[in-house]
Amino acid sequence: MTADREPVGVIGAGWVGLVTAACFARLGHEVHCRDIVSEKVEALRRGEVPIYEPGLAELVRGARDRLHFTTEMADVLAGAELLFCCVDTPPTYSGDADLSRVEAVLDELGDSDRHALVMKSTVPVGTGRWIERRRPELGYVSNPEFLKEGTAVDDFMHPDRVVIGSGERSARFADRVAALYEPQGATIIRTDVASAEMIKLASNAFLATKISFINEIANVSEELGADVTEVARGMGLDERIGPQFLRAGIGYGGSCFPKDVSALKQLAGNSGYHFQLLTAVIEVNELQKRRTVGKLQKHLGSLVGKEIALLGVAFKPDTDDVREATSLVLAARLRSEGAHVRVYDPVATERSRDLLGGATVAESALEALDGADGAVLVTEWPEFRELDWAGSVRERMANPLLVDGRNFLDGDALRAAGFAYEGIGRG
Ligand code: UDX
Repeated sequence: MTADREPVGVIGAGWVGLVTAACFARLGHEVHCRDIVSEKVEALRRGEVPIYEPGLAELVRGARDRLHFTTEMADVLAGAELLFCCVDTPPTYSGDADLSRVEAVLDELGDSDRHALVMKSTVPVGTGRWIERRRPELGYVSNPEFLKEGTAVDDFMHPDRVVIGSGERSARFADRVAALYEPQGATIIRTDVASAEMIKLASNAFLATKISFINEIANVSEELGADVTEVARGMGLDERIGPQFLRAGIGYGGSCFPKDVSALKQLAGNSGYHFQLLTAVIEVNELQKRRTVGKLQKHLGSLVGKEIALLGVAFKPDTDDVREATSLVLAARLRSEGAHVRVYDPVATERSRDLLGGATVAESALEALDGADGAVLVTEWPEFRELDWAGSVRERMANPLLVDGRNFLDGDALRAAGFAYEGIGRG
C-alpha cells in the first residue's frame, strides 16, 4: 500500500488528535477521527473547531471531504488500519501518568493483526512493551508528538524529526507510518519502542531543564548586577548551546512540561533511580512564582487589600490553553496573601473563569489596570506591548508598579515614565 492511499485512524479529537487528523487529511489521506464526546463530534462535522490553534480551523474546513468524525470505534476500525492514539494521559496525584484512557482504547480494540495502534500520546517508558504483551496480535508503533501549541500545524508539516519506534513484529506497520511522513521531508528516526518513548520524555525534560537553568542564572544575575537577556544572547550564540529556550521568566507551564518532567522523575524513582536534576528543575520552577510575589511585596509591603492586575492567563501567547498556567498559581498565591486580583487575557479568560477562584475577570487590559497597586505581566501577548504605558496606563494605575514576568517590555522606557519596573534577572 502506498502512503498516499493509506487511510488513517485517529482516536481522540483533542488538541493532538485534531492537529494530526487535519494535517493527514491535508496531505491527501482519508482520515477517520473518533471522539467519545458526541457534541464535539457534531460540532466538528459542522466544521466548528473547539480549540484555538492558528490555522487549524481552516485546515479542518478545507479538508472536510476527507475528514470523517465519529463517536464509533467500529467506524475507525472499518476505515483504517493505522490507528493513531491521541488520548490524554494526564498526571495523577503522585506525578505518574494516568493511562486509563489508553486502557479504555485498548479494551475497544480486538486482537486484529490488520490493525496497529500508533501511540502519539505521551506515555511512560515501558508502556509499549506492556501493550504488546497484552495485545499480542495487534501491531504497536510509538510515534511521539513534539508539537508546540500555537505553531502545531506548522510543526506537524515541518517537523525537526519524526520518531518511530517498533519491535520486529510491528516493523511492517512502522514502515507504513514512516511512509505517511515522507512528504514532510523530515529526518525519520527508526528505533525501538522504549527508546522512542524515552526520546519524548527526555526532550521535554531537557527543554524544561534549560528554562530552569536560565531562570537560576537570572536569579543570580539579580544579585550580581548582570542582565540575563544579555547573558542568554551571549550563551545562545555558542552552537552547542543554541539560542532557544533561554528566555528567563516566571516559569514554564502548559500541558506538557510540568507533566512530563514529573512523569520522568516518577518513572526513574519507580525504577529505583533518584533523578536529582529533575527534582531541582521542578523546585526552581516553583521558586520563580514565589519570587514574583516577593517582588510585589518588596515595593508594596503587605499585600492585604492591595489591587493586583495579572496581564495574561494563558500559559503562553497564541493559545487559550490554561493548563498548568503560571497565572493560576500566582492568582491563588496573591489571594492567599490578602490581595484582590484582577486578570485579563485576550483569548483565555472564558476558559479560565472557573479556575481563577475569586479573581475578577476584566474585559480589557486597561480595565484590569484601572486603580491597581501593582501589575504582573504573566503572558507575553503582543497587545501588551501596544498599551500606552506612559500615558493612559500610568494615569489609571493607583501605583505604577510593574513586574514584567517575561522581560517583554522596555524597562528603561517604563522607568523613565515613572514606573517601578522589575524584570527577571536584570540586575
Ligand atoms: C512543549 C514542547 O515544546 C513540545 O515539543 C511538546 O510536544 C509539548 O510541550 P508547549 O507546551 O506548546 O510545547 O510550549 P513551549 O512553547 O515549549 O513552552 C512551554 C513553556 O515554557 C511555556 O510556559 C513558556 O512560557 C515557557 N518557556 C519557553 C520559557 O519560560 N522560556 C523559554 O525560553 C521557552
